[in-house]
This record gives sequence, C-alpha cells and structure tokens, in this order.
Amino acid sequence: MKCCRMNILGFSMLVTVIFMLCLCRRADGQLTADYYATTCPNLSRVVLREVFKALLAEIRMGASLLRLHFHDCFVNGCDGSILLDGFDVVDNIKAAVENECNGTVSCADILALAAKYSVLLSGGPTWRVLLGRRDGLVSNQNGANSGLPSPFDPLSQIIAKFAAVGLNVTDVVTLSGAHTFGRARCVAFSNRLYNFSGSGAADPTLDPTLASQLRSLCPQNGDGNVTANLDQNSADLFDNHYYNNLVNNKGLLSSDQILFSGDAANTTSTLSIVQSYNGNTGLFFSQFASSMIKMGT
Ligand code: HEM
Ligand SMILES: *[C@@H]1O[C@H](CO)[C@@H](O)[C@H](O)[C@H]1NC(C)=O
Ligand SMILES: *[C@@H]1O[C@H](CO)[C@@H](O)[C@H](O)[C@H]1NC(C)=O
Ligand SMILES: *[C@@H]1O[C@H](CO)[C@@H](O)[C@H](O)[C@H]1NC(C)=O
Ligand SMILES: *[C@@H]1O[C@H](CO)[C@@H](O)[C@H](O)[C@H]1NC(C)=O
Ligand SMILES: *[C@@H]1O[C@H](CO)[C@@H](O)[C@H](O)[C@H]1NC(C)=O
Ligand SMILES: *[C@@H]1O[C@H](CO)[C@@H](O)[C@H](O)[C@H]1NC(C)=O
Repeated sequence: MKCCRMNILGFSMLVTVIFMLCLCRRADGQLTADYYATTCPNLSRVVLREVFKALLAEIRMGASLLRLHFHDCFVNGCDGSILLDGFDVVDNIKAAVENECNGTVSCADILALAAKYSVLLSGGPTWRVLLGRRDGLVSNQNGANSGLPSPFDPLSQIIAKFAAVGLNVTDVVTLSGAHTFGRARCVAFSNRLYNFSGSGAADPTLDPTLASQLRSLCPQNGDGNVTANLDQNSADLFDNHYYNNLVNNKGLLSSDQILFSGDAANTTSTLSIVQSYNGNTGLFFSQFASSMIKMGT
C-alpha cells in the first residue's frame, strides 16, 4: 500500500470525512511512545534502517523527510493526508514496515519516525516519538497548501499560522532551525536578489557577498528550480549554524532572516530567541526535541 490518498469526490464529502475524523480522533485518546510495542516491536529498527539507506543514497533525503512530516502536521494535523505520491523513499520505508508487520502502522506515524531518524542521522538531537496517529482518508492539494507558511509571509503571518496549530513563538524560531540542512529553489528567494520590494536593490538584510553568489546561481528569468543550500555553513549537517547565519545576515529565505532582522523581531522576541540559540547548541537541540513532539501531537 502506498502512502497516498484518493482524490476528493466533492467538497461536502470532504467536510463530512474531516468531521468524522475529528470525532474519531477525540475518541482515540492520547498518543503513546509504546503504541506498537506488541503489534510491531521492530518498527523503530526498520524505519531507522530504511532512513539510513536513503541517506546513503542521497544525503538531502533527511531534510526532505523532515519537511514532509512538517507539512503533514500543518495540514489537518499529522494524518498522512499530504500528497506523497512519487516519493519513492516513503514508499520504500512503507514497504519495509508492511513486510515487518502488515497493515498495522499508519503513514503519519511512519513519517514522524522517519523525521526523527533523519535528524538524528544528520547529527541532530533525538526524542521519543509519540505514536498512534490515524491516517486520513483524503488528500487535497488546495487544503494542503493553505495553512502552510510561505517564505514571503511577514513575521506576523508566520506566527499566526503556527498559532493556528497550537505552536508559539518559541516553536516558530526553534522549528525554523530545521533550515540548518536541505535546499531551497531559486523561486523561493530570488525576489531578495533583484529590485527587492521595488527598491531597485537587493534585500538590505542579505549579506552582499552571499547576494552576489546567489545572483550567479539564480539569474533573472533563469531556471527557478535550481537549488541553493539553506545553510551556507554546513549544508547537510543538523547543527545550530542556522542561527549563526541569521546574526550574520546569511539566512537564505526572507522568512528565515526576518526572525532576526524583521521590524517585529524585537517586539515578538524572535530576535532574542535566535541569539539564545546562536552559540548554544545544547539549548537549541533540547528545545527542538520538545517542539517536534509538540508539532507531532
Ligand atoms: C517558518 C515557516 C517556514 C517556511 C516559510 C518554510 C519554507 C520553506 C521553503 C520555501 C523551502 C524550500 C522549498 C523549495 O524550494 O521547494 C523549505 C525547505 C525546507 N524546510 Fe521549511 N519552511 C518553514 C518551516 C519549516 C519547518 C517547521 C520545518 C521542519 C521542522 C522545515 C523544514 C524544511 C526543510 C528540512 C527543508 C529542506 C527540504 C529539502 O531539502 O528537500 N521548514 N522550507
Ligand atoms: C525483531 O528483530 C529481531 C532481530 O532482527 C528478530 O529476531 C525478531 O524475530 C523480530 N521480532 C519480530 C516480532 O518480528
Ligand atoms: C499485506 O496485506 C495485503 C492485504 O491483506 C496484501 O495484499 C499484501 O501482499 C501484504 N503485504 C505483505 C508484505 O505481506
Ligand atoms: C511556548 O510553549 C512552551 C511549552 O510548550 C513554553 O515552554 C514556552 O515558554 C512558550 N514560549 C512562549 C514565547 O510563549
Ligand atoms: C523596481 O521595481 C519598481 C516597482 O515595481 C519599478 O518601478 C522599478 O522600475 C524597478 N527598478 C528596476 C531597476 O528594475
Ligand atoms: C520546475 O519543476 C516543476 C516541477 O517539477 C516543473 O513543472 C517545471 O516545469 C520546472 N521548471 C523549469 C523551469 O524547469
Ligand atoms: C532591536 O533592539 C536592539 C536593542 O534593544 C537594537 O539595537 C536593534 O537595532 C533592534 N533591531 C531591530 C530589527 O529593530
């Protein structure tokens, strides 16, 4: 079975299904770390092995798997309803899990575990993943994008989108630290390189040397799918360099740099949280673990 859903038949059906899922979830009760202890005791080992293989084949996959879990959780709340079609790696992990214990583990739980091992194997912290999520029955591309933060959103909008799923300002700054690895396409940041907001110049909160490197990578009217490293410092490691980048005006996305340089960064206290993580890996790692559990719940 692949981790993808059928298309919606109609809006009313979608509403009905979501309503029913909400009822089920309320009756379901809490997630627990030992949810599959008897039904799939080797689950963690299998997911760890599959993520390890995926990283050996393509180091970026850790970042991609973490991002998938984030998107899954922001759309209808960690229910596997994100469109996963075409993600061979997820299909491989799912197949290995089915092989171990058929028809037992939800796609949403597999994504949560894959995200954990992606971070751990990339050098980051670990945490106890709470399990027992139920997969939704439908996926919807429009619904899939509406609640997600955009790299062009102002800080207030990003904070509001996190608040809508029960995450606060500390979680915004902490989870944004996921941009310590992985890539982003030129389309996600090239507005900062040329005539930024009609100013005739690049974004003044982007380091000029980095801006000029990125202009070579992303020429105007060039291929918007070309990618740059989110972390200029240690592209594939999960570390706290993201925050060092921000204090040096080297955040790649506008939504990254505004946490430190935005007009609202002082009053919302994102600035002081960035400073607290810069140079304190332990603090960032322990808070990242808590915020991941919070997001996954
Ligand atoms: C704060 C709001 C956020 C915004 C606006 C945002 C936006 C983006 C964008 C635009 C990209 C590049 C996508 C592309 O080029 O196709 C990206 C990549 C990524 N995001 Fe975020 N993101 C946010 C929060 C998060 C969170 C909370 C996580 C996980 C906890 C996360 C994890 C990642 C990772 C790991 C990548 C790299 C993926 C890869 O290389 O395949 N992001 N994000
Ligand atoms: C779990 O894995 C171990 C070691 O590979 C194996 O001996 C054991 O039979 C597996 N348990 C289950 C329930 O499949
Ligand atoms: C799992 O069960 C389904 C349906 O019962 C079956 O079609 C599939 O072949 C099984 N997969 C494995 C790996 O045993
Ligand atoms: C965010 O929530 C956590 C608990 O989940 C709490 O420890 C932290 O102080 C909160 N941060 C803010 C800025 O409210
Ligand atoms: C920059 O954008 C503004 C507003 O869109 C426009 O009036 C101006 O001509 C542009 N400048 C350059 C150098 O392209
Ligand atoms: C970028 O990638 C998307 C999706 O893979 C594709 O539809 C589009 O044609 C690509 N654009 C360019 C300029 O290659
Ligand atoms: C934030 O406040 C500090 C002093 O408290 C000030 O130096 C800095 O310029 C302010 N930053 C922004 C973006 O307003």
